[in-house]
Amino acid sequence: MLKGLAPSILAADFGRLSDQVQLVLDAGAPVIHVDVMDGHFVPPITMGPLAVDAIKAQVEAAGAKIDVHLMIERPERQIEAFAKAGADSITIHAESTPHLHYTLQAINDAGCLSGLALNPGTPAEAVSELAPDMVLCMTVNPGWGGQRFLEHSLSKLVRLRTLIGPGTALEVDGGIDAETAAKCAAAGATVFVAGTAVFGAQDPAAAVQTITTAITR
Ligand code: DX5
Ligand code: ZN
Repeated sequence: MLKGLAPSILAADFGRLSDQVQLVLDAGAPVIHVDVMDGHFVPPITMGPLAVDAIKAQVEAAGAKIDVHLMIERPERQIEAFAKAGADSITIHAESTPHLHYTLQAINDAGCLSGLALNPGTPAEAVSELAPDMVLCMTVNPGWGGQRFLEHSLSKLVRLRTLIGPGTALEVDGGIDAETAAKCAAAGATVFVAGTAVFGAQDPAAAVQTITTAITR
């Protein structure tokens, strides 16, 4: 099960991707979050399996995990490619395919932990009938880093935790910094994605430590 802070490389300097990843790994980040966008499910286009492959060796050497967040339509077509590239977990959006049950199963069959992401407008009850290893509660609308945390997410997290029980990881993504991470932890979150608050900080290593302290209190 994933746990703890997951810096999102979406906010990293891609000209120095390996150095940036190493910086947060050395600071103790247990998970690296990879945001995949296809220009359809969300307007921007970001990265694909090649980015996962590029950081795999150093993440593995640090004993950390790669958490792939697919903001793409028909994710069932891409599971194998991301699993082969080295994803440890793959999260798909509840809004992205009619084949959620099948795709979550395919993720597990490929040897990865499965995640189900819910947009801010998707009710918590969308997790019913499904048994992912992790639920990702979007705390902003997907597509861009640097947005403001949506406060209504806190009551949704509490409802989600009741629905999924204690054995499923609960991830938050969007507008996460030390302050919002602490609030989400109190509401039941266990995995915390942070892009801007880590890579946009003057000192990303110090930011990793500050947010980690805020969620382990
Ligand atoms: C947004 C992405 C996030 C993004 C978060 O669609 O899923 O993972 O990188 O960025 P911040 O932490 O800047 O809100
Ligand atoms: Zn994400």
